[in-house]
Amino acid sequence: MTTKVLITGANKGIGRATVAAVLEARDDALVLLGSRDEGRGQAAREALVARDATWAERIEVVPIDVSDEGSVRGAAEAVKSRHGQLYGVVNNAGIGLGGEDLQTILGVNTYGPKRVCDAFLPMLTDRVVNVSSASGPMFVASCSDDRQAQLTDPDMTWERVEAFIADAHAVKGDFAGAGMGSGNLYGLSKACLNAYTVALARKHPELTINACTPGYIATDLTVPRAERSGVDPASMGMKPPEEGTRASLHLLFGEPGGSGWYFGSDAQRSPLDRYRSPGDPPFRGD
Ligand SMILES: NC(=O)c1ccc[n+]([C@@H]2O[C@H](COP(=O)([O-])OP(=O)(O)OC[C@H]3O[C@@H](n4cnc5c(N)ncnc54)[C@H](OP(=O)(O)O)[C@@H]3O)[C@@H](O)[C@H]2O)c1
Repeated sequence: MTTKVLITGANKGIGRATVAAVLEARDDALVLLGSRDEGRGQAAREALVARDATWAERIEVVPIDVSDEGSVRGAAEAVKSRHGQLYGVVNNAGIGLGGEDLQTILGVNTYGPKRVCDAFLPMLTDRVVNVSSASGPMFVASCSDDRQAQLTDPDMTWERVEAFIADAHAVKGDFAGAGMGSGNLYGLSKACLNAYTVALARKHPELTINACTPGYIATDLTVPRAERSGVDPASMGMKPPEEGTRASLHLLFGEPGGSGWYFGSDAQRSPLDRYRSPGDPPFRGD
């Protein structure tokens, strides 16, 4: 049987590298390469097929803009009628280091995976991987004790995530005054994505649903920042996109040991409320 995996935001960066990693990891894999722009998706497919001609039969482009309800629903209907079932979804599409506002960042990084899961879960048999960021736990660490408890509630529900988001909108920029520490919008969106991962895993014990950070990876998300400061990305510690796929692949095909957890780029479990360096002992949940 074919192992069918949808990867969103897969036309470049870590997403495109994940397409290649999935095809290399599993001979039986078919990847649905999600791209909000179909042309960019087709260009990515062509680049991958130029690398390995046998992949021509194993990559299908799926137009999907995760910030748009209609686009996500349309993609789900098209995939359902063509494939019936999917093994897994990698919610990789993300934005946020370009000065976007809170609503825009949440619309892609938090509500994006929620929209995709709402639409695709009925046809999913095995795994969800939410590509988050170490900025999430770092944001939580900067929050007040009450806010930390709110974001790491083991009885998390989507309604509780939305309550936090409503508070974040209501503070009108005074994040520190509301116990929301650094107020880093990207970190806030990824902390909410991690909380959503906990909530979704509680609701769907039949699936394995986890989040991870890819690590610090040189892509269009990060390299412009290095360029602006005139620093070479590699000297800032950024790694090539292929190295940002390790945790996602483990959560997709390996034995993560749990569901509703967050993993570091070394594919080891990490806490939701503080940064754990790759190579440090795994988080044991205590
Ligand atoms: N790079 C890092 O160091 C790093 C660290 C931690 C976490 N991450 C996470 O890793 C994921 C991939 O990021 P990346 O570094 O590979 O960045 P990237 O090269 O900028 O790729 C982001 C991808 O997301 C897509 N995207 C953006 N908005 C979308 C939307 N509304 N609907 C569908 N797709 C959309 C982009 O499509 P377009 O080409 O059309 O814009 C692109 O394909 C993100 O979730 C990011 O937050 C990255």
